[in-house]
Amino acid sequence: MMQSRTRPPERPPRTHPPTPEHPVSYKLTFDGRELPAQEGQSVAAALWSAGILAWRTTRTNGAPRGAFCGIGQCYDCLVTVNGRPNQRACLLPARPGDTVTTQEGTGRAALED
Ligand code: FES
Repeated sequence: MMQSRTRPPERPPRTHPPTPEHPVSYKLTFDGRELPAQEGQSVAAALWSAGILAWRTTRTNGAPRGAFCGIGQCYDCLVTVNGRPNQRACLLPARPGDTVTTQEGTGRAALED
């Protein structure tokens, strides 16, 4: 018996009705600059969409870093979000009004007063 070579039916698009808390598009800020973001984007995706590729520097050489693996393994994408350092931007969903800031050094500056 021959198998059909037809395509499987396409999945319906995921639909999440926009709500005031979860609008389809919204704004967040990165180092004081307002950026657009879309529902479902990670913080890294929102930064990439705005053309921002690096948002952290290494603690020893100050080398720029951004998303590398994109799956939460390399920790190159650490960023400070809403005052919380060491957030993996590739995994963290962006939320309306998030305040994202560049992270320098160990990400413990807030603890070293
Ligand atoms: S890009 Fe590797 S952990 Fe985020």
